[in-house]
Amino acid sequence: MHDSEPLAERDPVEATRREFLSMVSVICGAAIAAIIAVPCVGFLLSPLIRRAPRLWRSVGPVNNFQVGQTVEVSFLDSSPLAWAGVTAKTAAWLRRETETEFIAFSVNCTHLGCPVRWLPHADLFMCPCHGGVYYKDGQVAAGPPPHPLVRYPVQVYNGEVRILTSPIPTV
Ligand code: FES
Repeated sequence: MHDSEPLAERDPVEATRREFLSMVSVICGAAIAAIIAVPCVGFLLSPLIRRAPRLWRSVGPVNNFQVGQTVEVSFLDSSPLAWAGVTAKTAAWLRRETETEFIAFSVNCTHLGCPVRWLPHADLFMCPCHGGVYYKDGQVAAGPPPHPLVRYPVQVYNGEVRILTSPIPTV
């Protein structure tokens, strides 16, 4: 059957089948477009509609930390996604400066975000990705990092050390 045939000569069953298949094609196309578009639009709008809260997270009792030591502490991200699993955990480098004073640095390098390592014998933070180096106070010592390590506010509350979490810092 061809489109050039007069309408009166068309087989009504075939015309119905053609209309049905056209409708199925349109519905499938719309469904595929929605499957692709909805996550993309959600991702693009997420900074506007989903502001990550800043929350205080406990990283352990004060007595767990010795004066002068820098240790890695992990805690739950401030806005974990329901499906994040273990990736909802993040970390910081925490140093007890005095009996009452703590300092915390983001583990993320300010160059491209790789986790930096603390080298206790050199008193330096080292980024394994491109050789970025930071002094113990977080200032850049060498390499490509454009900014010092980001610092988190720290407080002691009810005998616990707490870090004010925020989205992974990007500077
Ligand atoms: S990510 Fe750290 S130096 Fe590049």
